[in-house]
Amino acid sequence: MQKITPWEVEGDIDYSKLVKEFGTSPISDPLLKRIKKHTKDLHFMLTRKIFFSHRDFNWLLDEYEKNNKFFLYTGRAPSGDIHLGHLVPWIFTKWLQDKFNVELLFQFPDEEKVVFKKDLTFEDTEKFTKENMLDIIALGFNPKKTKFIIDTKHANLMYKPAMQVAKKITFSTVKATFGLNNQSNLGQIFYTSMQAVPAFLPSILKKKNIPCLIPLAIDQDAHFRVSRDVIPKLGYYKPAIIHSMFLPSLLGPKGKMSSSSEQDTIYTTDSPSTVESKIKKYAFSGGKPTLEEHRKKGGNPDIDVSFQYLRMLFEPDDKKLSKIYNDYKSGSLLTSELKEILIKKVNTFLKKHQQKRELAKKQVNKFIL
Ligand code: TRP
Repeated sequence: MQKITPWEVEGDIDYSKLVKEFGTSPISDPLLKRIKKHTKDLHFMLTRKIFFSHRDFNWLLDEYEKNNKFFLYTGRAPSGDIHLGHLVPWIFTKWLQDKFNVELLFQFPDEEKVVFKKDLTFEDTEKFTKENMLDIIALGFNPKKTKFIIDTKHANLMYKPAMQVAKKITFSTVKATFGLNNQSNLGQIFYTSMQAVPAFLPSILKKKNIPCLIPLAIDQDAHFRVSRDVIPKLGYYKPAIIHSMFLPSLLGPKGKMSSSSEQDTIYTTDSPSTVESKIKKYAFSGGKPTLEEHRKKGGNPDIDVSFQYLRMLFEPDDKKLSKIYNDYKSGSLLTSELKEILIKKVNTFLKKHQQKRELAKKQVNKFIL
């Protein structure tokens, strides 16, 4: 059983089944070729099919090739600290921004988790908005081409278009799409209208239609399944979408990293020794129970979480990655050694990230719309 909504991801995730269920298109080799024409190289998240699915990407490139440039839109509902899983779509979004030289609108729906989480207050989200912004800036988005939009702060810009979206979505659609019910609060029922707005707000502000591409983790697709039907009715382009997989939790190869448990999650602010001990203690291993057996029969990198983190985030070099894969499979590389490789990679990344996060404190104002 798999259950995937924007607020809940449960069970073993079968990504090819999601493509069928949600009616998206797999990323094909011809599409990769077409992207490469413009980007010169391909990000490993594309070639490894970590971004595995899309909606209307070919249309987006048709427009781009007619000199009708798109903008990027993605977001983060501030409700806790940033962990490694969050970084997957954002690192890729930065790559897209650099390669296509386009604007990015980054939404902080600071009301979303207030209406979805029982104990979360606006005071909490205000704090997390500030903290989370530092992580986004630290990833290196172009300050001249990136704007943050915060739902409560920019409500004056957003309320009218959100209501126009809301007018065209029925309660029964929201119930069927998100698993909400008669007991759901009004904020929850309305929220998807707010997430729709940044997909066409630049078209309103610039008084001309601009194509939009939304990179997201597949759980967020539901919002756009609904709003892609509505946005054209308001006179704007249907946004194109590109979907990523979830980074698995430390505890197992299935499911996703989440902030609900401290143990199975590596935060961007974790110290080197915390990272080391979390990976050593918790990272689910595809190794054999004893050293002799591992040397003889080899491990299983496909279910090994440390290997998956290297594949999805930390080892961009295909040759190095496949050597690790083969060595682990043959048994010449031990689990403890594989974990060492990952620990080094994560800590090298986090050291730089944490420095850039400090510097970001002075830059926040430049990014706010
Ligand atoms: N709902 C997303 C979250 O929970 C935040 C978000 C807002 C978003 N707009 C988006 C995510 C657009 C992807 C694309 O974090």
